[in-house]
Amino acid sequence: MTTTPIIAVTGATGHLGHLTLQALLERGVPAGNLVALVRDPAKASDLAAQGIQVRQADYKQPGTLRAALSGVTRLLFVSSNDFDDRVGQHRNVIEAARDAGVDLIAYTSLLNADRSGMILAGDHQATEAILRESGVPFTLLRNGWYTENYDLKGAVKNGAILGAAGNHALNPAPRQDYAEAAAAVLSSDGHAGQTYELAGDEAITLADLAAEVARQSGQPVAYHDLSAEEYARTLVGFGVSEGFAHVLADSDTGITRGELATDRRDLSRLIGRPTTPVTQAVQAALTA
Ligand SMILES: NC(=O)c1ccc[n+]([C@@H]2O[C@H](COP(=O)([O-])OP(=O)(O)OC[C@H]3O[C@@H](n4cnc5c(N)ncnc54)[C@H](OP(=O)(O)O)[C@@H]3O)[C@@H](O)[C@H]2O)c1
Repeated sequence: MTTTPIIAVTGATGHLGHLTLQALLERGVPAGNLVALVRDPAKASDLAAQGIQVRQADYKQPGTLRAALSGVTRLLFVSSNDFDDRVGQHRNVIEAARDAGVDLIAYTSLLNADRSGMILAGDHQATEAILRESGVPFTLLRNGWYTENYDLKGAVKNGAILGAAGNHALNPAPRQDYAEAAAAVLSSDGHAGQTYELAGDEAITLADLAAEVARQSGQPVAYHDLSAEEYARTLVGFGVSEGFAHVLADSDTGITRGELATDRRDLSRLIGRPTTPVTQAVQAALTA
């Protein structure tokens, strides 16, 4: 006898987790089979109103994780956005899932994580290793850059996109596409042991992005390429913390090494359609 999977999603009050729960409902998974794992249930009243069970779970409090994962068979584990011992937080989630008898963990890693030299890749490499050691079947959802990482309304206002990526390409996609891929993996069989390199079908440079923003807005918008040091300094001048500015500049250096680009079409294959065209993502950002 097969049992219907109980699917839990961490970070369910965050962007990707929330979109994934909506994509699961869209795919016909009954709300009663879905569990939203959140730090603060007060922020999840919309999910509860949809009939999704909301449970409190904090990556930093293993006891909450064990209780929250009880009865869960498949887990979307959204990587933390808190860099304070991120690997320790991730270890807590994986160990709790193992102890709770979860059948499959789908983890949101980073595109090309195994060969990436980006600072951001380090925690993902460590988490992938913990998954391998855990004995729990897992799927790696190695997500590329979100199109939403770029403040395109700000670009129109300032007439510029700044970066340190040179004329090297990346394959971004909107969060919605990554969420649909996660939902496809969680709601169908045969994904254990798979590594998906998830990214948009189109390779673009930041100059291409600026040109598209200029075309759609009718305003002059150009890409200004800086050295990684200059870019980090400029971001600090805009009020970004030193640490985060360094990570962002380092990520652009990763783009120059091709680490946010791929020829693989795992994302469009999983979602059963071409990824959202860059023109459409730009339009959505400019009209939001
Ligand atoms: N590929 C990319 O371009 C890209 C860009 C940015 C981030 N990321 C990574 O992808 C993840 C998902 O992206 P997103 O846009 O959905 O980010 P997001 O909206 O910032 O969501 C992150 C989620 O992590 C949750 N979280 C943080 N610390 C936690 C803890 N101690 N216990 C339980 N939950 C915790 C947050 O909970 P609350 O809702 O309570 O705050 C939030 O729901 C991010 O966390 C980050 O690791 C990827």
